[in-house]
Amino acid sequence: MKEIVKSVHIILKEEKELNEVEQKLVEAAKDATFRSYAPYSHFHVGAAVLLDNGEIITGNNQENCAFPSGLCAERTTLFYANSRYPDVPVRILCIAARDTLGNFTKEPISPCGACRQVMLETEHRFGSPIQVMLYGTGGTYFVNSARELLPIGFDKNNLI
Ligand code: THU
Repeated sequence: MKEIVKSVHIILKEEKELNEVEQKLVEAAKDATFRSYAPYSHFHVGAAVLLDNGEIITGNNQENCAFPSGLCAERTTLFYANSRYPDVPVRILCIAARDTLGNFTKEPISPCGACRQVMLETEHRFGSPIQVMLYGTGGTYFVNSARELLPIGFDKNNLI
């Protein structure tokens, strides 16, 4: 028998520890929460990605009365970014959320499994890691690669 341990390495930064680009991404993700369409959950999620060409693309959750037809902020944003710039790698993905009372969450918000899978695909697609920033008013989590959020995730190598 063998034990395999896969762990996630998280850096927690306070607001004042964020560099200029990181601050910009947090602001963009927070701002995007105000454009989300979440009439059912009233949970407003915003995402901002920094592309290799310096461009920042934002998106948010888009809900639907047929619940599974809606889409999370992370996938909305990644699909939009990848559809506009199919050849430009995604460097950083930042997400922020406001709860049902309209306040930014204290705890960093955690992407769902399907969004992690799409992040992983995007990493593979461009052959470069995506740094993930999970914003909370109590601090922002930094994870260096989406792969760390989905340690034994399915990828294209499994198809062979
Ligand atoms: N949601 C996101 O957009 N991203 C996450 O990381 C978690 C959840 C959305 C989906 C749904 O519109 C609402 O938040 C409540 O689950």
